[in-house]
Amino acid sequence: MTAPAGRVVWFTGLSGAGKTTLARGLAHALSARGVPVELLDGDAVREHLSQGLGFSRADRDTNVRRIAFVAGLLEKHGVTVLVSAISPYRATRSAVLAGFRNPLEVFVDAPLEVVTRRDVKGLYLRALAGEIPHFTGVSDPYEAPLAPDLHLRTDLEDESTCLSRLLAALGFPETAH
Ligand code: PPS
Ligand code: ADP
Ligand code: MG
Repeated sequence: MTAPAGRVVWFTGLSGAGKTTLARGLAHALSARGVPVELLDGDAVREHLSQGLGFSRADRDTNVRRIAFVAGLLEKHGVTVLVSAISPYRATRSAVLAGFRNPLEVFVDAPLEVVTRRDVKGLYLRALAGEIPHFTGVSDPYEAPLAPDLHLRTDLEDESTCLSRLLAALGFPETAH
């Protein structure tokens, strides 16, 4: 018997844009609808699978490719995989996304000024003070998707609106709650 189709939802965006918040919210909403779901979040992956990797281009690409490898395994077994990682390089994102059956690339977008003001973990303050080298958006590049499947402006749309749009994009048109 073949497993039901899995799906990879790939959230990309600056630190503080809302990747983790939306991936967690979507995981909750999908679980409530009986969908098998797994989260692969950059921060968690870096504690385990990618422990020891830094933030050079080579290390970020290695991290992203590791995440994609695991996502592919889960997808094959019918799991909806929610990846939340900055994944700043367009070429690497495109290359890994091309390996999935029917990926949904989600650009979690908020201007640098807004994420700096949010400063969820206090990292922008430190990065702007020069204490964190290669910090995305401050001293390291972020290449936004040119044609994402979904473009969420988290400075203009609240979490619940973003979740509704995500659910609709996945074929669950009713509201998130
Ligand atoms: S990447 O680029 O996809 O490999 O990054 P990712 O695995 O998502 O890890 C991003 C999280 O690491 C923290 N952090 C940094 N982010 C960006 N640049 C630098 N230099 C950096 N140093 C630490 C930060 O908590 C990121 O998580 P989010 O959720 O994006 O804030
Ligand atoms: P990231 O994982 O991209 O670094 P987080 O999810 O950790 O981002 O943080 C995003 C912050 O922005 C949270 O404090 C969240 O409450 C806030 N926020 C405001 N509006 C939204 C939205 N529409 N979607 C997601 N997060 C939002
Ligand atoms: Mg996060």
